[in-house]
Amino acid sequence: MNPLPGAESATLELPPPDATAIACSKRLAEIIVEQIELCGGVIGFDEYMRMALYQPGFGYYSGDSIKFGASGDFVTAPEISPLYGACLARQAEVLIEQGCAARILEIGAGSGSLCGQIMESLPALRHYQILDLSAALKQRQQRYLRARLSAERFSRIEWLTSLPEAFDGIVIANELLDAMPVHILQKQDDWRELGVGYDGGRFAWQTFEPAREALQAIRAIEARLGELPPDYRCELNLNLRPWFKALAQSCRHAVAIIIDYGFEQNEYYHPARAHGTLGCYYRHRVHSDPLVYPGLQDITAYVDFDASADAAEAGGFAITGLVAQHRFLIANGLLDEAQRLSACADVRAQIAVAQQVKTLSLPQEMGQQFKVLAMQKNVAFDMPAMRRSHARG
Ligand SMILES: C[S@@+](CC[C@H](N)C(=O)[O-])C[C@H]1O[C@@H](n2cnc3c(N)ncnc32)[C@H](O)[C@@H]1O
Repeated sequence: MNPLPGAESATLELPPPDATAIACSKRLAEIIVEQIELCGGVIGFDEYMRMALYQPGFGYYSGDSIKFGASGDFVTAPEISPLYGACLARQAEVLIEQGCAARILEIGAGSGSLCGQIMESLPALRHYQILDLSAALKQRQQRYLRARLSAERFSRIEWLTSLPEAFDGIVIANELLDAMPVHILQKQDDWRELGVGYDGGRFAWQTFEPAREALQAIRAIEARLGELPPDYRCELNLNLRPWFKALAQSCRHAVAIIIDYGFEQNEYYHPARAHGTLGCYYRHRVHSDPLVYPGLQDITAYVDFDASADAAEAGGFAITGLVAQHRFLIANGLLDEAQRLSACADVRAQIAVAQQVKTLSLPQEMGQQFKVLAMQKNVAFDMPAMRRSHARG
């Protein structure tokens, strides 16, 4: 997830939403306040984030706002360039050639761009399934893909309402884990959890005794990495274990490719990262106040790739590896694909393609902070692009 190049970070100078957007946000705020009152005055930040993003009809991902691309709030890799889908299609082809079922399940498909790119790049793909929490995005994906693809290709796409049973094929999730609700912990004398209350006029941070699971998780991290300093604040994604368990249960013979921005644990919970990784995106401004404009801005946290890999293993996957996005894309033909795209383009388009390659792969852009975690269930396919893993596998 990126703001557009040149967008500045801003805390207070957010462009004002229009009247309809403000009305939706106010209605969502009322629903959240009801929940806070029902819970005795405070809800965990995870609950606030879940409602702000996914409350039916009003949450950021459940509502009608544009979200992706130049006229939305942020851009993701498939919105930046078709090269991204072309590289993932190449990776899928490598797996299909080894006997993997020619089927993709994409979880959290956003605008549908990645699906369109892969369907166009990989005619061998017989079946593409999409699972997305957001009914509004599902409709948008259907409109977009019907217009983009031939009727025959479009007919190969199926929208699911839950994980499939006995899935054989390739699972892809791009920037899904960063959109999962997180708990926020802060170290005072001991660990406290940050929650959200309401002071009559606005949402306000409050602390409370952390849930047992959160406390166990952060203590395990400190036991492994060393004690974290006073006032340290960080996020924990406690959805990882149940989510990977459910995914592993739904997979029979499958490879899962999870791509997101994040760190391994020693970097994620580094003492210097004392304010956590939470970020809010609103019209290409990045800021750190999730309590303003509920439902109108995206809220995300970086992914803890060690916790993700542990959760995947506990669920029943074997980890293939974790590599930086630039390595994965280059090994899957990024430069060849760029050359092909440039071959019959005019100079302007060639410059645009060169810029896209840079954005996707340079370490200071998306190349290093975005990582690819690959895993397999009941298969052991060779994935050359996942070799030279600096972490696992
Ligand atoms: C940050 S967007 C990324 C969209 C797209 N993959 C991209 O890269 O442009 C997160 C997407 O995941 C969906 N989502 C979030 N949690 C989900 C879940 N548990 N199951 C399915 N979809 C989910 C959201 O509705 C949204 O489409």
